[in-house]
Amino acid sequence: MELTKEEQKLIESGGIKQKAMELVVSLGEIFGAKRLVPITSAQIAGVSYKNISDAGLEFLQDWSKEKVVVPTTLNPAGMPLEGWKELGIKKEFAEKQLEIIEAYRHMGVDITCTCTPYYAGNKPKPGEHIAWSESSSVVYANSVLGAMTNREGGPSALAAALTGRTAEYGMHLPENRKPAITIRVEIPMFGYSDYSILGYWAGKKYGSTVNFEFSATPKEEYLRGLCAGLATSGKISMFTQGQETKKEKIFTEDDLVDTYQMLHTGEKHDIVAIGCPHLGFDEVANIARTLKGKKVNTPLWLFASKEVAKKAFIKGQADIIKRAGAKLITDTCMVVAPLEELGFKSMLTNSAKAAHYAQTTNNMEVEVAPTEECINYALRPK
Ligand code: F3S
Repeated sequence: MELTKEEQKLIESGGIKQKAMELVVSLGEIFGAKRLVPITSAQIAGVSYKNISDAGLEFLQDWSKEKVVVPTTLNPAGMPLEGWKELGIKKEFAEKQLEIIEAYRHMGVDITCTCTPYYAGNKPKPGEHIAWSESSSVVYANSVLGAMTNREGGPSALAAALTGRTAEYGMHLPENRKPAITIRVEIPMFGYSDYSILGYWAGKKYGSTVNFEFSATPKEEYLRGLCAGLATSGKISMFTQGQETKKEKIFTEDDLVDTYQMLHTGEKHDIVAIGCPHLGFDEVANIARTLKGKKVNTPLWLFASKEVAKKAFIKGQADIIKRAGAKLITDTCMVVAPLEELGFKSMLTNSAKAAHYAQTTNNMEVEVAPTEECINYALRPK
């Protein structure tokens, strides 16, 4: 691979920056990249102590001697950074989690702890090369924002953040961003969960960029659900809309129903969890409107970024949610927090991604349903 003088210097610099550069270059060589490209931002996954354990913490403490050189944000952690005791998180877990956060903070990473970095000040412009690692935000960045990123691993996103570069392969090359097939969606799509299920279905079926043709333009929040679904079940890092392809497939009512069924393993749920990916402000406001003056009888946990929660606090929605007995939680999510250790066995959610991981990694029973049904389930008397 061709390296610039500056890049050559970094790879001979010794210490952590050299290791980071070696990681970026090795990945490039594996994937046949000819050069590195400068990035404008990074987003790092691999934050929850539940996922990275002591080995990950040691790695981060070692690398924390160096600073990131581009704006870098962080994925959700295994608990809210404040108020974790109220959720029943164990002290030993919390201490390790806070050490992880401290290591990132020391590197100059912005402790956003969200999978919607674009609501937290990290919103790249079309055509910018970036190195993001959270799968749903990768699809969103490529497809909705028009930025260019591969689905980085936690360490490779960190290496890119420390060097300001990533290897030019995959989604950094325009030819790999072209869709091979169009998925025509003519059935009525009723909301977030339908788009999330559509993404999950398409991700299982196809392995590269797909083009969607919708009969009605989806809302931005629905696209987030679509992105998360696509990223969960396969290798898709991008979708397009309105492009021509030679092949076409129609998404049918049966496809929709069968995919809901695939993620339906329980009937009686002990938690309702919404916010995968983290909720936008409008969604929080809509949920607050439904909850106003009511009380939940099954725990209802809503996940959002600190920025969205702050706005909800200022505008009064956070208070309505609290009065209803539901929780608006930041910094973490229903997948990377140790829900199973907190005693939850079955989860109702509006997100295919949350259901998939709750089932496969947290060993929970799951069901995906439209947002209104999820809220009504939490409200109904036991
Ligand atoms: Fe975000 Fe957690 Fe879902 S990181 S996309 S809320 S699994």
